[in-house]
Amino acid sequence: MGEKMKVAIIGGTGDQGIGLALRFLISGEEVFIGSRDIKKAENTVETIKEILKEDKVDNLTAMTNQDASSQGDIVVLTVPLQAQVATLTTIKANLENKIMVDATVPLDSCLSGSSIRYVDLWEGSAAERSAEMLKDKNVSVVSAFNNISSGALIKIEEDVECDCLISGDDSKAKEMTMELAEKIPGVRAIDCGALENARIVEKITPLLINLNIRNKSRKVGIRVTQI
Ligand SMILES: NC(=O)c1ccc[n+]([C@@H]2O[C@H](COP(=O)([O-])OP(=O)(O)OC[C@H]3O[C@@H](n4cnc5c(N)ncnc54)[C@H](OP(=O)(O)O)[C@@H]3O)[C@@H](O)[C@H]2O)c1
Repeated sequence: MGEKMKVAIIGGTGDQGIGLALRFLISGEEVFIGSRDIKKAENTVETIKEILKEDKVDNLTAMTNQDASSQGDIVVLTVPLQAQVATLTTIKANLENKIMVDATVPLDSCLSGSSIRYVDLWEGSAAERSAEMLKDKNVSVVSAFNNISSGALIKIEEDVECDCLISGDDSKAKEMTMELAEKIPGVRAIDCGALENARIVEKITPLLINLNIRNKSRKVGIRVTQI
């Protein structure tokens, strides 16, 4: 078993942040829930404690995004696209030499459009956009968790039956992220190569949202076979 990780979740008050926090707490990691508003982070911590029924909650702390990013060894960004740049601007100084895992998906709903359509970004993907913003801080940006639905993560009594497609240019950072992803029961981490592949992976998510709608599910995921 690997060492306990200190995981900061930026925008940890949303569905994806809460889902990941639950799974990482259950696997014994230390989790910092980040928010722009400490009260909101504290309320989320209370919600998580109710779900976990006080079990495994000693390693859980509410923080501002700034404090969470400075405390975490691995910092997971779970904010909508329209908040990505503004949020990174507020935590950038704390990310120097760290691993920043980007779960952002460029959905058209971020431009008041449809959640089953993606939007093209100049940089190629949300993760590459983060990497460009953070390039003067020696941050290892990894793209992960984009295709794992919060609906599956939050159902803690069930395994999450899907693969986690992971892209990044720093192999050590990618390995650590793969280790973190595989702490979620049912999840298999797949190394998808360089960060530029995030532009393919992020585009799968609107399809999964579409399949959720068409199949009245909240848990649709993706499995790669025969590798
Ligand atoms: N939900 C899913 O099933 C899922 C699955 C895969 C990938 N993702 C991706 O993961 C990211 C988070 O998803 P989510 O559903 O958890 O999002 P969300 O609930 O809409 O937002 C997450 C958090 O981001 C912060 N935020 C929201 N709007 C903001 C703004 N305009 N400026 C600054 N901060 C803002 C808020 O935190 P505070 O108010 O506390 O600061 C909010 O609680 C998205 O990029 C999404 O595409 C989601």
